[in-house]
Amino acid sequence: MKKVLITRSILPEVVESLSQRFEVDHNADDRPWAPEELVRRLRGASGAMATVMDRFDDAVLAQCPELKVISNIAVGYNNIDVPAATKRGIRVTNTPGVLDDTTADLTWALLMAAARRIAEGDAYVRAGEWKIAFGVQYFLGQDIHHATLGVIGMGRIGQAIARRAGGFDMRVIYHNRSRLAEEEEKRLDATWVERDRLLAESDFVVVMAPYSPATHHLIGAAEIAKMKPTAILVNTARGGVVDDAALVEALREKRIAGAGLDVFEGEPKVNPGYLGLRNVVMTPHIGSASRATRLVMCNTAAANMMAVLDGREPPNPVN
Ligand code: DGY
Repeated sequence: MKKVLITRSILPEVVESLSQRFEVDHNADDRPWAPEELVRRLRGASGAMATVMDRFDDAVLAQCPELKVISNIAVGYNNIDVPAATKRGIRVTNTPGVLDDTTADLTWALLMAAARRIAEGDAYVRAGEWKIAFGVQYFLGQDIHHATLGVIGMGRIGQAIARRAGGFDMRVIYHNRSRLAEEEEKRLDATWVERDRLLAESDFVVVMAPYSPATHHLIGAAEIAKMKPTAILVNTARGGVVDDAALVEALREKRIAGAGLDVFEGEPKVNPGYLGLRNVVMTPHIGSASRATRLVMCNTAAANMMAVLDGREPPNPVN
């Protein structure tokens, strides 16, 4: 029986089904492994199902000569040195497509929570601070309907986010390296604009770009300075795409109205500057975290891994 490694705790039905075909080592404790532990566990494994928190750099890969496939349970794969894996004949796969709607839903949840100050209001009620039933000036937020949504990164998830804007009668503008085909723009009712124009005109700026050296601090102090003082920034893509230190400063000085964040530089550590701010709402990297979607992601990752180990082309190859 071939040995496979599952680096974190995943849905039990998927472990069970893999156990019928493979000797499965499964991190049931769900504590992320240090690189040395990861290497130790990978010894003798032909396949690994991994998360974006597991770093597969060249030093790790060099110590795993039997490894044939790293199957990420994620659409992103910035945790893997793909050229190094390719050089060593290791296939890399991901789970695109299956999490677009769930991640778009969470993006909207954060956008709406930041705009309408939901987390702040919830904390206020829980703390027993709500003493007078109604106030004309209580918790004034930003309107979502008829506002302008700017999406930076109009891939599948960006498009799912844009589609939802129709229900709020919003104007949608987007910026992407490559422009969408005319029919797709029509279908989404979205207009391509230069990035600076998007930053200046959007009431809500949503970043949905994968992390790479090219997108590191794509939104930094200079970009934030171009946003409206009433605007809200939402990042459900990757930590590092937004410069957290610059965003903390801007939020503290109220140079923009608010932010909704699911991802952070160096997570699970969060820039301590955010913690004292009321105009930011945060979630712990749960963009794709619905039970149904996580099950599909695990099954997709398992199918990718099995295909490679069976000598077939995987459904979702990265390299
Ligand atoms: C992804 O799929 O890339 C999400 O961030 C979950 O890891």
